[in-house]
Amino acid sequence: MKYDFNKVYDRKNTNSLKYDFAAERGKPEDILPLWVADMDFKAPDEVITALNKKAEHGIFGYSEPDENYYSALHGWFLSRHGWNTQPHKFVITCGVVFSICSLIRILTKKDDAVIICQPVYYPFAQSVTDNGRKLVVSELKNDGGYYTIDFEDFERKIIENDVKAFILCNPHNPVGRVWTREELLRLGDICLKHGVFVISDEIHSDFVYGNYNHTVFSTVKKEFEKISAICTAPTKTFNLAGLHVANTYISDDEIHNKFVRELGGQGYSQPNIMGLVACQAAYAHGAKWLDGLKVYLQENIDFIRNYISENIPRLSFAPPQGTYLAWIDCRKLNLSDSELENFITDEAGLWLDDGYIFGKGGSGFERINFACPRSTLKAALERLKTAMRSL
Ligand SMILES: Cc1ncc(COP(=O)(O)O)c(C=O)c1O
Repeated sequence: MKYDFNKVYDRKNTNSLKYDFAAERGKPEDILPLWVADMDFKAPDEVITALNKKAEHGIFGYSEPDENYYSALHGWFLSRHGWNTQPHKFVITCGVVFSICSLIRILTKKDDAVIICQPVYYPFAQSVTDNGRKLVVSELKNDGGYYTIDFEDFERKIIENDVKAFILCNPHNPVGRVWTREELLRLGDICLKHGVFVISDEIHSDFVYGNYNHTVFSTVKKEFEKISAICTAPTKTFNLAGLHVANTYISDDEIHNKFVRELGGQGYSQPNIMGLVACQAAYAHGAKWLDGLKVYLQENIDFIRNYISENIPRLSFAPPQGTYLAWIDCRKLNLSDSELENFITDEAGLWLDDGYIFGKGGSGFERINFACPRSTLKAALERLKTAMRSL
């Protein structure tokens, strides 16, 4: 293969959130980090070359995207997801979470209810409560590791709480579901019926495996276009999170304009020049690299599955349909949240995301970021296996 995803890069002393701030966050220095969702792989060469070229030019004045930028976006979304985008519907921001928070502010008033399906990416709950809105949770159903939406509960909670917005995680972090067109249709119809706006976070959309296909929420039904914002970003896909660039697609003109005004009100206008350069290069030239990476990640999934079933059978792992996050069921260990957290940190020497932070249903689970070389993954699982002896 042209790309060597087995290569281990030393990320220590690079101001990496994942590798360099253990002590500040109360973790031992020698901990092996597989928590925050960035990857231990270098971005595609074409992205690095484009960034180098800009850096060599040496002038970093204000910038704005041109037609080549939007053409790269258009080409990517059409070829990867069958989604036909129009440039003027995109708004560039510094991140998906930033977009979600801004959307919550324009779509709802103080104390209005916003619904999420937990366990889910924990900043969803924070973005609701930090903005003074009421958090409503509909728990996903877990049937032997296969998660589904509890549609009756979802609709009942919307009615009972007069919910105004829903933050959808599509595909779903941390449970790894790639929602089907039918599931999205049912969700969307409920939202349409009750006047609920859908903020669809699709940042993991490029990581779907096997025969699973990502469905852009607004493509499911014409009427969904007006009641949704699609939050996209190249940052998970190409490992660019520190460059802070995201493209939020809002079809409804009024909401689009309100969103732009909200950004203005926060003092945000021109995007980061390096983020724009990287995003354009990645979408224009990164397809082959991503295809190679997905093969490697699929092998990592197989590796985890085999390793756990052969060596740590007290844990369960249902392979994800999408994302690069493994959701490990540790409930058979019978540990409380804090006992499990201490076991993972102190006995296994691993820095993972503890399941309970994703919501009540996450209790007893650990999330492993497997976007790393196989040797790192193997070392992590070996630490886990050895630690099991202490129980
Ligand atoms: C579902 C989801 N949304 C958003 C983000 C973060 O996006 P950003 O850095 O653009 O705010 C992540 C990162 O892990 C994520 O998993």
